[in-house]
Amino acid sequence: MPGVNRAVTLDVEGEDAMLALGARLAGATDGRGILYLHGDLGAGKTTLSRGIIRGLGHVGAVKSPTFTLVEPYELGERRAFHFDLYRLVDPEELEFLGIRDYFAGDALCLVEWPQRGAGILPKADLDITISPHGSGRRLLLQPCSARGEVWCIALANQFE
Ligand SMILES: Nc1ncnc2c1ncn2[C@@H]1O[C@H](COP(=O)(O)OP(=O)(O)O)[C@@H](O)[C@H]1O
Ligand SMILES: [Mg+2]
Repeated sequence: MPGVNRAVTLDVEGEDAMLALGARLAGATDGRGILYLHGDLGAGKTTLSRGIIRGLGHVGAVKSPTFTLVEPYELGERRAFHFDLYRLVDPEELEFLGIRDYFAGDALCLVEWPQRGAGILPKADLDITISPHGSGRRLLLQPCSARGEVWCIALANQFE
């Protein structure tokens, strides 16, 4: 899509700041769309997801869906699905999970290790890449749809 280049880079120091950023992201998305979370083991993908899901109103635990592949959340009127595809052997497995139903609805989908589902996963609105940066993390947010671009503009305005 031409014109989509409003990438945002953010330095986030500590777990609490990561959770707070998640809450801001949740606000920007309004609980709809697809976010891919890239980064090595321990990068902070689940922490950011926890901030997002709590930001949408979930009270309580947000555990890593490493073994279940997906964890659903009912958030009042809204729904969120948190995927961790680290253990996915073949993207075709996603078909057996009923992946289309998760993405067809008007939900927020967070996907850790999206590259494991390449070819089957729907495209993201926003690609987030997390890397170590000193004692904190550096986040690169790259929009890949008009919707993702709107989110990035909203976030960038908040940090000006
Ligand atoms: N912005 C941050 N700065 C410092 N530590 C962080 C940050 N975000 C997360 N962490 C820490 O990184 C560790 C791994 O986080 P986790 O979210 O489980 O990673 P992943 O899901 O990418 O494997 C946790 O101990 C968490 O507290
Ligand atoms: Mg994780």
